[in-house]
Amino acid sequence: MTTTTPVSSTSGPTPPEGVADPTQAHIDLTDAHAAHNYHPLPVVLASGDGAWVTDVEGRRYLDCLAGYSALNFGHSHPRLVARAAEQLQRLTLTSRAFFNDQLGPFAKALSELTGKDVVLPMNSGAEAVETAIKVTRKWGYQVKGVAPGTARIITMRGNFHGRTTTIVGFSDDDVATADFGPFTPGFVGVPYGDIDAVAAAIDDATVAVLFEPIQGEGGVVVPPEGFLRALRELCTERNVLMVADEIQSGLARTGCTFACDHEDVVPDVYVLGKALGGGLYPVSAIAADHDVLDVVRPGTHGSTFGGNPLAAAIGHEVVQLLATGEFQERAWVLGARLEEGLRGMVGAGLVGVRARGLWAGVDVDPALLTGREVCEGLMRHGILAKDTHGSTVRFAPPLVATESDIDLLVVALRTVLEVARR
Ligand SMILES: Cc1ncc(COP(=O)(O)O)c(C=O)c1O
Repeated sequence: MTTTTPVSSTSGPTPPEGVADPTQAHIDLTDAHAAHNYHPLPVVLASGDGAWVTDVEGRRYLDCLAGYSALNFGHSHPRLVARAAEQLQRLTLTSRAFFNDQLGPFAKALSELTGKDVVLPMNSGAEAVETAIKVTRKWGYQVKGVAPGTARIITMRGNFHGRTTTIVGFSDDDVATADFGPFTPGFVGVPYGDIDAVAAAIDDATVAVLFEPIQGEGGVVVPPEGFLRALRELCTERNVLMVADEIQSGLARTGCTFACDHEDVVPDVYVLGKALGGGLYPVSAIAADHDVLDVVRPGTHGSTFGGNPLAAAIGHEVVQLLATGEFQERAWVLGARLEEGLRGMVGAGLVGVRARGLWAGVDVDPALLTGREVCEGLMRHGILAKDTHGSTVRFAPPLVATESDIDLLVVALRTVLEVARR
């Protein structure tokens, strides 16, 4: 039912008494006043706890998107909330014009987690990717000796690295790029996972290869076995920086701390975001050794909020949560269960399943349903997930989900597909 009853901006998360359809009221309000750069499912969430969220009408849903893996530790993880609340009362922002007592401990912990000498903190994922682009270009000119103004970065087709004009400039998604040009030059795209194509694209001006160890927005696309190792060798041999965008794949999602760990590969630069802020706050960073990151000098790069004490406190707690390996283990165990359930549906509504840890992309038979229709069906069964590229649906439940949560997801998907096949 549609209602146009306005919701007061001071009324809190639930519309005032008497609104017949609070869900629709919130949708109308958002549609009227927020730009339409997303096409959300028609559910209005008001609270979250662990792997579950509750809407404004009290219905509960298993969150199988988990903020695109920003919520690896679930909604309102008590340790993250406590640490954030404590820091909120003390000091939230200093700017980097001054030191603060949270950044040093966080930077040390993240350096140790990544095995890198230093980190450069930012806020959103796209800013961290931009930081990696700037740093690798500067490294190219100052360390590698690339001719001024000619640096090239190799990227992968099907990539998703964020939404800035430079980043969408090397995307091959027409919707993300159309009418946003002109774009930044200096990028060359090659097919994802094709080591020969990377080798052929490298020339004297190449400073970096920027890649996702698993393409998340692309539909959880896992590269061919051995690609990451071969890329590591190639980058070392040709003096090119290997830059792993682990913003979505990193921090335990795939069953290891980093997706590169699956092939025992250490990139020259890690690009991190999403779960680094525990789903509470935007926290991103790049991590690299001195020979790379020392090209950044005062005044060359920065951000008002990057490295602020609140972000650093939360990021530090996230790194501590990862220290025991408990979440990585959980991703393995639950992921195996999810993958088994999904594979059982191939030929019965699904035409493809790709999975790594607790992260799966399924291709729905396009003759049966679109990805969006599957997500709408799942929503009616209390499961929230997100489609991509027409017929693909991604599942990335928080790593605090239980075995029975995973079973609920599998049963719900089977039911949606069975109903469509009748
Ligand atoms: C691999 C990857 N890189 C970068 C980004 C951009 O992050 P943000 O949306 O925080 O800018 C994303 C977001 O989905 C991502 O998946």
